[in-house]
Amino acid sequence: MSSTSPRVIAHRGYAADNPENTVAAMRAAAADDRTDAVEIDARLTADDRVIVFHDDDLSRLTDAPPAVSDTPVWELSYDEISSYTVGDSDELIPLLAEVLAAIPPSITVNLELKHPGCEGLQFGAVDAAAREAAADRWRPFVERALDIATATDHDLLVSSFYEGALAATRAVDPAVPVAPLVVDDVEPGLTLADRYDAAVIHPPLDLVVESDFVARAHAAGYRVNAWTVTTPAEATALAAAGVDGLIADTPGVLSELS
Ligand code: G3P
Ligand code: MG
Repeated sequence: MSSTSPRVIAHRGYAADNPENTVAAMRAAAADDRTDAVEIDARLTADDRVIVFHDDDLSRLTDAPPAVSDTPVWELSYDEISSYTVGDSDELIPLLAEVLAAIPPSITVNLELKHPGCEGLQFGAVDAAAREAAADRWRPFVERALDIATATDHDLLVSSFYEGALAATRAVDPAVPVAPLVVDDVEPGLTLADRYDAAVIHPPLDLVVESDFVARAHAAGYRVNAWTVTTPAEATALAAAGVDGLIADTPGVLSELS
C-alpha cells in the first residue's frame, strides 16, 4: 500500500467546480495548490484541429442548433464549433494549444485521447495485424496532438480507452508515457500496460474498490490512477486501497484525507 497521499489529477479541470475542459477550468485547477496534474480530453475536428472537449457532439454542453449539435465533432470544422460556449459559462471550446498555454509547466498534463471518428479497437485487440491497422488509423490524430503537447514544457501522460491510441503514441514518440484506461476488468488493463510499456494504469474506482487491482498493478510495476472521484468517501476508500492518483471532479474530495 502507498504510504503517501495520492496525487490529485483535476478531471476535465475539476468538472464539478468549473466549466469542463475550458481554459478557465484549467487556470482554476492549476491555481489550486492541491492539484498535481490536470486531465483533459482531446479530439480532432474535421479540419484537423486538436480541441479539448469530452463528448462526441455538442448537444450536452452547448446551445448549438441541431444541425451542429447532432453532428459528430470530427465531422465539423473548428470554425463551425468555436463560437459556442460551454455550459452556463462564457468559455469557448478551446484548442489544445490554448489550454496548454494556460497551465503552468509545473502541472503535469494527462492528455486523454478520445476517438477521432475511427473507434477501431478498444480492449483486448485480437491479433498483431489488427493492432497495426488500428495504430495507423490513429496516427494522424496522435501526431498532431503530440506535436502540440511536446512543444510545451509540461510533463505528459497520454491515456486512452483505445488500443490504437496507445499504439500510435508509442510509435510516434516512445518517450511519452502512456496509461491504458480500463473499463471493468483487471486483465485487459494489465495486458495493455505490458504491451505498451505503460507507466500507469487508469481503472474506474469501482474496480479498485472491488478487486485486487492495485496490488496486481503494483506487483507488475505500474502506478494506478483511479477515476472518477466525486466524494470524500470515495477518495478515502481509494487511498486505503493504495492508489497513486485520484482523477477527481473537485479537490474537495480530499477533505477527509490527512
Ligand atoms: O481519464 C479518466 C476519465 O476522464 C475517463 O472517462 O469519460 O470522463 O473521459 P471520461
Ligand atoms: Mg477523460
